[in-house]
Amino acid sequence: AAWYENDIDRVLVSETEIREKTAALAKQIDADYANTDGLLLVGLFKGAVMFMADLARALTIPVEMEFMALSSYGQRVTSSGVVRVLKDLDTDIKDRDVLVVEDVVDSGLTLSWLLKYLPSRGPRSVEMVSMLRKPKALETGINVKYVGFDVPDEFVVGYGLDYSERYRELPFVGVLKPSVYQSS
Ligand code: PRP
Ligand code: MG
Repeated sequence: AAWYENDIDRVLVSETEIREKTAALAKQIDADYANTDGLLLVGLFKGAVMFMADLARALTIPVEMEFMALSSYGQRVTSSGVVRVLKDLDTDIKDRDVLVVEDVVDSGLTLSWLLKYLPSRGPRSVEMVSMLRKPKALETGINVKYVGFDVPDEFVVGYGLDYSERYRELPFVGVLKPSVYQSS
């Protein structure tokens, strides 16, 4: 049995579902950017790493890959809306078609901040893709063009999502048992 088996309540999105959804999203993105001269994928550390790698390989148009690391001040749940750039882009995005890649949109703070920040650098377009979306993101009305799955407001881990830096490497998205985060 896998080491994490007893920590997971149930599988929310299986490995197969992730693979099929990634292919479907890639097909859509391929079509939408067919007439552009190269898409710039911007993945956000660390959560988006798995999806970024899978999406890039599922696309058939040429892409470049960039990464940013952002941090919000204080506890995420009581977040003030302030975001700090820990690692910025290494490249000029002027006149580029940018697609921000995320694992999950929760409060929408991260992406709404990026939507204000990136346009100041003169990209040709900025869109967003996220494998998962929490209900809060729908409430705040943040417009994520490509979404894989809407998931309930539960403690989900895997496929990039962590609890205390663990579980990111799980190949599926699962709900963490409350006993795991209530035991400390
Ligand atoms: C998580 C997740 C998203 C963000 C979503 O990242 O990967 O980037 O939170 O939440 P929001 O919509 O409320 O902004 P986190 O900052 O925890 O870091 P990580 O990617 O390194 O896990
Ligand atoms: Mg993240």
